[in-house]
Amino acid sequence: MTEQTPPTDYLDRIPPHLVSAGDYEQEARQRLSDPVWAQIAGGAGDEITLRKNRTAFDTLEIIPRMLADFRHADTGVNLFGRRHKFPLLIAPIAHQQLLYPDGELATLAAANALETTFIASTLASTPLETIAAESTAPCWFQLYFQPQREQTLDLLQRAEAAGYEAIVVTLDAPISGLRNRVQRSGFALPAHIPTPNTTGYEPPAPRSLAPGSSVILNGFMADAPRWEDLQWLREQCKLPLLAKGVISPADAEQCKAIGLDGIIVSNHGGRTLDGLPATIDALPEIRAAVGHDLPLLLDSGIRRGTDIFKALALGADAVLLGRPYLYALATAGALGVAHLLRILHEELEIAMALSGRPDIQSIQPDAVKRR
Ligand SMILES: Cc1cc2nc3c(=O)[nH]c(=O)nc-3n(C[C@H](O)[C@H](O)[C@H](O)COP(=O)(O)O)c2cc1C
Repeated sequence: MTEQTPPTDYLDRIPPHLVSAGDYEQEARQRLSDPVWAQIAGGAGDEITLRKNRTAFDTLEIIPRMLADFRHADTGVNLFGRRHKFPLLIAPIAHQQLLYPDGELATLAAANALETTFIASTLASTPLETIAAESTAPCWFQLYFQPQREQTLDLLQRAEAAGYEAIVVTLDAPISGLRNRVQRSGFALPAHIPTPNTTGYEPPAPRSLAPGSSVILNGFMADAPRWEDLQWLREQCKLPLLAKGVISPADAEQCKAIGLDGIIVSNHGGRTLDGLPATIDALPEIRAAVGHDLPLLLDSGIRRGTDIFKALALGADAVLLGRPYLYALATAGALGVAHLLRILHEELEIAMALSGRPDIQSIQPDAVKRR
């Protein structure tokens, strides 16, 4: 298959062979064209980071305790004054109409059903106001800095007015990563997939570059956001503000110093700079740098309830689910995403039960070991 159109034959019942995120991945591979598959499944460069995101989880062992008291067991976590029944949120992902006609609204329906927080992307194919209006669970908005501050402020204020409960500003993609798999596949975003949130924002006037200067370093990056822009955003934003894409403890400390309310430790699912560490490996140093009070979330490589467990053990308060829900969406729309969320809930509960950790607080660093 080479067309870049969404599949048309979605499942309306879940067959018995779909019992894990990995099963949904295989199912989606059969359903999606090669270019769309490259676009969603691929990573940057040689995909070293993409692979590491998995091996780092797989090589971490769980150390169980027996005979724990489960009479008050609970998977709930508090984030910014809200009780989340489960420490799993839906990561912001662009262009979901590539995978399903209703795109984000199908994912959101599943998130609503499971009372899961949906983080809407700036590059969603559904307007941010529509997503907020359809949401019955708490909803967060992911903000990309726009070329002009007025545009960034406009997006922020629209999100605040629409009722989003937190803002996630993504810092790790000032330019796109070098995604060789996508380049080889010939993928291009089909013209019928809209990006309504930024429609009408004028593109920046092209910068005139001195002869011999770099289009990337002296062109795009000269206009990229800086720390002063994050400081400015902090001053403008009335909601809890989290930075997404932080990997270094020094940046985490700086985010905390600026007054951010939380950090999402992420390498963008291995899609930006190849060679970045797995987030689960970067997490302990970041937790140590920011102390115990700052909420830390993590994504990149979460595929199992045991991965959620390992992230919680090493200092995360909650995790974000990325590609797996796209695979479920491409397979069975909202039904698939809801089923996948249930699978992950059950997997975490089983991990807690069999490791003797009855609540999130009890999942501490001694629950895992890297040999
Ligand atoms: C197809 C695709 C589109 C994405 N779009 C966005 C986006 O618009 N904004 C953003 O902050 N992150 C985006 N991400 C990154 C995700 O939010 C998340 O960090 C990543 O998917 C986590 O890795 P995982 O997919 O391996 O779980 C995107 C990821 C994928 C796979």
